[in-house]
Amino acid sequence: MTHADDPRSAPPIRWGILGPGGIANTFAAAVNHHTRAQLVAVGSRSRDRAERFATHHGVPTTHNGYDALVRDPQVDAIYVASPHSEHREHALLAIAAGKHVLVEKAFTRNEAEAQEVVDAARAAGVFVMEAMWTRFLPHVVALREVLARGEIGEVVSLIADHGQAFGHMPTTHRLHNPDLAGGALLDLGVYPVSFAHDLLGVPDTVQATGSLTPTGVDGQLSIALGYGDRVQASLHTTLWARTATTAVIGGTEGRIEIADSFYRPTSFTVIRNDGARWTYDMPVDGGFQYQAAEVAHRVTQGETESPRITLEHTLEVMRTMDEIRRQVGVVYPGE
Ligand SMILES: NC(=O)c1ccc[n+]([C@@H]2O[C@H](COP(=O)([O-])OP(=O)(O)OC[C@H]3O[C@@H](n4cnc5c(N)ncnc54)[C@H](OP(=O)(O)O)[C@@H]3O)[C@@H](O)[C@H]2O)c1
Repeated sequence: MTHADDPRSAPPIRWGILGPGGIANTFAAAVNHHTRAQLVAVGSRSRDRAERFATHHGVPTTHNGYDALVRDPQVDAIYVASPHSEHREHALLAIAAGKHVLVEKAFTRNEAEAQEVVDAARAAGVFVMEAMWTRFLPHVVALREVLARGEIGEVVSLIADHGQAFGHMPTTHRLHNPDLAGGALLDLGVYPVSFAHDLLGVPDTVQATGSLTPTGVDGQLSIALGYGDRVQASLHTTLWARTATTAVIGGTEGRIEIADSFYRPTSFTVIRNDGARWTYDMPVDGGFQYQAAEVAHRVTQGETESPRITLEHTLEVMRTMDEIRRQVGVVYPGE
């Protein structure tokens, strides 16, 4: 794997934050507390929000609007933390200004938009990565080593789910709002889908059944992915219930059970068919620092993609999610 080592060993690049909302706060705290990188600027559609964020996180420069942020010569890399509907436009803005970009998940609304961003990044020669932070977490690094050593034999099944009780949120909230590309899949389901792609690759078959919210986005989905003759992934996501959020990887010689919140820092247990079992449990504060460190390493080495989540890999995940949405009938305005 790449850099599960201390994120403080990553080079001190200079970040600009685009869209100082909920997740940008988490990212900023992780960068400040767990890396040597600097938060040098923040851009917001509201001067007040930019200033409050800057004060809270000790960011020296605020920009009124995103254009000024991406043109700021102090900034090496932009963290795009806007709603899904805006990712394409904001990533393209940063790329056009010659900046490296970390784009929050889901990367864009669909594969076509993702392809536009990928093409622009390749043409400009800048680094772009989807902020699928799970890939870089220590427990996932350790888990992939267990699989590579063959400790559970040949993997034949993955069961993973991510549900949160977000049903009470107003219909205008980005989670329920089709204009902001809401729905369970792009927000929560992207984790099990991306995890399945990470462990099992591109599925040969995709089958989804789901229920929509009154606003017309996916409220809940059950997804079956098929690979070859006998490998399958069973995935679930919902906006209406706080589910177990666990994952189980089934192999011919044992299984791995990943604890609650499989997608964030957590523990896992290897349970072999011969009775042997052991648990990996190394507490991690935060978690976003690992993906931030990955960007810093790659950018400093002049690379334009992360081998742990290549742009092709992001396109593949978007293609699977497009197919899931097609089957349950979720179309965003203007798609
Ligand atoms: N990795 C994770 O664990 C995690 C967790 C939650 C969310 N996310 C992802 O992070 C992204 C943002 O989610 P969030 O929960 O942080 O959202 P949020 O709290 O609503 O913040 C989004 C920010 O985007 C900016 N923005 C730009 N255009 C906008 C528009 N048309 N409508 C609304 N806001 C707009 C706003 O900043 P200004 O108006 O101040 O510029 C706003 O503060 C999503 O892609 C989401 O999936 C990731």
